[in-house]
This record gives sequence, C-alpha cells and structure tokens, in this order.
Amino acid sequence: MTDYVAAIDQGTTSTRCMIFDHAGQVVSVHQLEHEQIFPRAGWVEHNAEEIWRNTRQAAAGALAGADLTATNVAAVGITNQRETALVWDRATGKPVYNAIVWQDTRTDRICEQLGALGGGAERYRDRTGLPLATYFSGPKVRWILDNVEGVRERAERGELMFGTMDSWLLWNMTGGTDGGLHITDVTNASRTMLMDIATLRWDENIAEEMGIPMSMLPEIRPSSQVYAEGRRGGSLPGVPIAGILGDQQAATFGQACFEVGTAKNTYGTGNFLLLNTGTERVMSQNGLITTACYQIGDNAPVYALEGSIAVTGSLVQWIRDNLGLISRAEEIETLARSVDDNGGAYFVPAFSGLFAPYWRSDARGALVGLTRYVNKGHIARAVLEATAYQTREVVDAMNADSGVALTELKVDGGMVVNELLMQFQSDILDVPVVRPQVAETTALGAAYAAGLAVGYWSGEDDLRRNWQEDKRWTPKMDVKMRERDYARWKKAVTRTFDWVD
Ligand code: G3P
Repeated sequence: MTDYVAAIDQGTTSTRCMIFDHAGQVVSVHQLEHEQIFPRAGWVEHNAEEIWRNTRQAAAGALAGADLTATNVAAVGITNQRETALVWDRATGKPVYNAIVWQDTRTDRICEQLGALGGGAERYRDRTGLPLATYFSGPKVRWILDNVEGVRERAERGELMFGTMDSWLLWNMTGGTDGGLHITDVTNASRTMLMDIATLRWDENIAEEMGIPMSMLPEIRPSSQVYAEGRRGGSLPGVPIAGILGDQQAATFGQACFEVGTAKNTYGTGNFLLLNTGTERVMSQNGLITTACYQIGDNAPVYALEGSIAVTGSLVQWIRDNLGLISRAEEIETLARSVDDNGGAYFVPAFSGLFAPYWRSDARGALVGLTRYVNKGHIARAVLEATAYQTREVVDAMNADSGVALTELKVDGGMVVNELLMQFQSDILDVPVVRPQVAETTALGAAYAAGLAVGYWSGEDDLRRNWQEDKRWTPKMDVKMRERDYARWKKAVTRTFDWVD
C-alpha cells in the first residue's frame, strides 16, 4: 500500500529524507551533514558526490526508520539549497569542480564586469527579477568555465551539464550516465539569473553575455508534475519523482501560503522571507527580488517577492565552530539569557557581503559598540538580535513594496525553537510571530508538490487543513526603545560598507 509521500531536502549544511503521512505529519527522518569547504576567504564549496552519497543513505535510512520500502511511497519531491552551481560531465557523471555554494563571493569581479556593460547591478533586473550579485548561479558557472582547465572547450563541445542541486540529484536518481533526466523547475531556474521571469524560458542573450553554452542548461519544468521514476542503482526505485521546489519556495508552499499577500520567514543558515504575489510579478523598489514561487502542473506560475538574508543561523554555527563560545547551537539561548540586553553590542554578519535590502558585495562583518563591559552573554544576544534586525529590514522593504503592512509573520526553520529570538522578533517587528505545529515546512512543501501530482492530496484545501498553529508570540517592547535600538542597528550596518575594494 502506498501510504506515504517522501521528500529529499538537500540543504546547505545537510541532506535529509523525510517521510510524511496524509495529515502532513512526519513519519520518519534521516539526516546526514556534509563537509563545508572553505578554500579561501569568501569561497564556499561542497563536494557534490558526497551529497549524492548522503542522499541515497538518507532515503534508505528514512525508509528503514519506519520499517517501509519504496513500494510504500506514492511519490517523492526534491527540495534544495538554491543557486549552488555544479558542472558535470554527461558521459562520466563526474563533476568538473566542487559545487560553488550560494554564499560564495568569488564572482564579484565577474558581476562588476557584467554590470559595466551597462545598467550596473540593475542590468538584468527587468528580465530576471534579480540584481547582479554574487549570490546567483550564472556568474558561478562562468567562473568555472573561465578558471578550470579545459572546461570551456568541453562545454562548447556539448560534453558538460550545469545544474543546481535539484538537477544533480534528479539526474542521478533517474539513471545518471544511463539516460538520466536533465531538468530543473521554475523556482530553481529563477535563481540562476539566466531565466526570463515572464516566459519561464532561458534567456539566450543573457547566457551568451555570460559565456554559458545553452547545451549545458537543464530543461525547465513546473514544480509539481510526474517527471520520471526512480531507477535501480539511483534512489527510491520505482517511486514517481513528482515535485521540485527551491527550499524557500518549498517552505512557502509547506506553510500553505497560497493566497496573495500571505508570507513566511524561514530561519535556516540564512533567512528568507517570501510574500506570495499571485500571478503578478511585482518588481521591488526597495531591495527585494522577484522570484518564481511555484507552478503546479500546467497552471499559471505563482510569483513571490523575496527578502534574502545570507547569514542568520550560520552566525550561531560560526560562534560555535570558529570562536568556541558555545559547544552546541542550542546553548546560544542560555548564554544570551545570562544577561538582560546586548550591552550596547551589535553584530552585523556581512560574511557574504549583504543581501537584501542592500545588495553590497563590498560589505564584510562587523561587531560594533564594544566596551569593556561587554561579555560573551552580550555577544550571544547580539548574535540572535542580528537575525531579528535583518528580518525587520526585509519586512520594512516588503511593506513599502506592497503598500500593505504585514499583520503577522508565519515562521519556520531550525531557529524557531529559540524562544528568546522569537519574542525579540515579535518585539522588533511589532507584529505577532506564529509557528506552525509541523515546523519542517521545507520538506513538507516538496512532499506536497509531489503528492499533488500523483493525486495523494486532492488540492490546496486538502493541504490548508493540515496547517495548525503551535505557538504565537506577541509584541511587548516599548515603542521608544524599539525604534532607538533599531536605529543603532542601522548605524552598525553602515560600518560594514566599503570593506572590499
Ligand atoms: O538561497 C539559499 C537558500 O536556498 C539556502 O537555504 O535552508 O539551505 O540555508 P538553506
């Protein structure tokens, strides 16, 4: 009996497989971390073969954990860290270079050169919805073609494929060198800077300007559709692979943000706030990006405005791994609670430059406001507050773009178990913050997309019924204090600018 739907969630720090039942409850999960490779300051890479191995193990582990086999799974959806770019050989299946991760800033020169052709950072905004920034995939592919020996010639001979992690996994799951399917979905394609956001097709002119042969690009498909079945030797043999969504779009779907004006904020490695704008593409005047949100089968695509923040949860990891102030991520809350406030310290984690709403690749991190009074408790507070302040900046931009103020914020992701942060988030936004019962909305969204395609769920109403509130935080902060502290944060942000020439 095919009682369940699976999701593969290939994230920035780990890969997991989750199995859900019809009520959207988690039945089983298996998760494996992968190595973060930092060859130089500003560079971040992943070993794509390690990620594929972990994917197979995660799927096998999730099935075994609930005593299931692939025959119990009606469909599988894939969700993934977006923008992370990989180039591999179609004949051997071998990557020509590590995957270049979305956080990597090595393409700043390439972005500058492209901008200098005219239009600066806004050069491709009308066509792609995105500013020219190191975040997106296209310039990363260009870097690989320019810098890895022999790769450009091989690409021009049609021997190489480009893909984000969804494409890489799906190609391997469907047979790899033995007829693997080379596709992506509209949401992932909308992060490459190579897709026309209106037509949902590759823009040949942009690809040409970036020097990327069209033969490398995957076919763009809807987010919910039966693409193929898992093959033997791949993963989940015989199971229809029926959904692909970039992880932030998946979380939006998993949070049942189906109506225009609904939004969610995910607290992961970074934070990503998406507002559903329906079939309309809203171009931001305030530093947000326009992105594909989902496309179900042949329906019209749904778009979103997005506020992307590069560093939130990864700052906690950095405090743990690089400074050793805590030994487990959860301890940040206890440490922060050892003091009453930030003691005047503000931490702006511009480790990958600053994304929304600034888009400054010249920025680097700063810890400011220090006196001898400041101790590690205050720094822990400043770390958590950085997440909330960055979110406030994005919400302000969202309100300005949409002309309507957000009345509450749906949240999900790893950091939403942090009570101190959630209360502070509500205080600094001055709106309620609401957490759903199933906080694993990213995997859930991918499972929903796959389950809809095979009729496991009948439609959006079916999914809406699964959404239940778990906890709500309401604002308690005095307005004067809020605005004073937020103004200090804004000042701290300016201290990070012009750091890289
Ligand atoms: O755009 C980057 C985003 O997709 C990464 O998400 O959850 O892996 O940090 P996450």
